[in-house]
Amino acid sequence: MEMTLLLILLFSAQLASGVLSATFTFKNNCRRPVWPGTLSGRGTPQLPTTGFQLDIGESQTITTPPNWSGRFWARTHCRNATANGKFICRTADCASGQLECNGAGGIPPATLIEFTLAGAGNQDFYDVSNVDGYNIPVSVTPQGSGLSCESTSCSSDINRVCPPELSVKGKRGKTTLACRSACEAFNHDPKYCCTGAFASPQSCPPTNYSMIFKNACPQAYSYAYDDRTSTFTCGTGADYLITFCP
Ligand SMILES: *[C@@H]1O[C@H](CO)[C@@H](O)[C@H](O)[C@H]1NC(C)=O
Ligand SMILES: *[C@@H]1O[C@H](CO)[C@@H](O)[C@H](O)[C@H]1NC(C)=O
Ligand SMILES: *[C@@H]1O[C@H](CO)[C@@H](O)[C@H](O)[C@H]1NC(C)=O
Repeated sequence: MEMTLLLILLFSAQLASGVLSATFTFKNNCRRPVWPGTLSGRGTPQLPTTGFQLDIGESQTITTPPNWSGRFWARTHCRNATANGKFICRTADCASGQLECNGAGGIPPATLIEFTLAGAGNQDFYDVSNVDGYNIPVSVTPQGSGLSCESTSCSSDINRVCPPELSVKGKRGKTTLACRSACEAFNHDPKYCCTGAFASPQSCPPTNYSMIFKNACPQAYSYAYDDRTSTFTCGTGADYLITFCP
């Protein structure tokens, strides 16, 4: 009885002050460790961690402040360089030299998971994006009682279908570790980047390169104006499960 009352009071206090935070659970289903990075946007403070290691099968949770906005990604093939001990990754490195990214983003190509909590209409907005290229499959699954919000993902291995001109190869030049966007691979060509004369949805249609990403991952952004099929929303108060290699 007392407990129930206390819980109700606490819950109402949270609602009244609008401080319902969200919990993100990160799960590594890959066959190798990954090193997620976090970057806050829109002037929201950096999260308690901006980079961490996630071993095979491991999960970790992060609680974000209300109205948080920002992105997640996962670095792969990381090590401490023998020469100087600096932490370095072959894909999506944030170049901080450390496990923590400290406010730096992942260097493309990187599959991005983008969030705006409590945005327009008090909805959460989220997407998976290959606009800055692709390095690893991911899924985003909303969780919470009474909420029926859609999952989104890029669960295909785009590295397997990446054309040579976009491929980032491993050391021996055999395996493809990541797939660059045409925008990045072709010197920021405006027609691939949707910039300059191509800076509108009308003037920047999909290209044969963006279609490679879209065909493999229909729910993910494949180029800048791919909003219609790539943005997802959920009522505020949801928590989210982010799975690498779903
Ligand atoms: C979060 O955003 C909502 C709607 O945009 C607003 O009503 C609320 O006051 C904001 N809360 C905080 C803590 O900034
Ligand atoms: C890098 O070194 C730190 C500190 O010794 C260690 O905890 C971490 O596991 C190392 N990271 C990798 C990827 O080897
Ligand atoms: C895409 O189209 C360009 C010409 O517009 C061509 O040079 C290129 O080979 C094509 N690439 C693929 C992967 O279809």
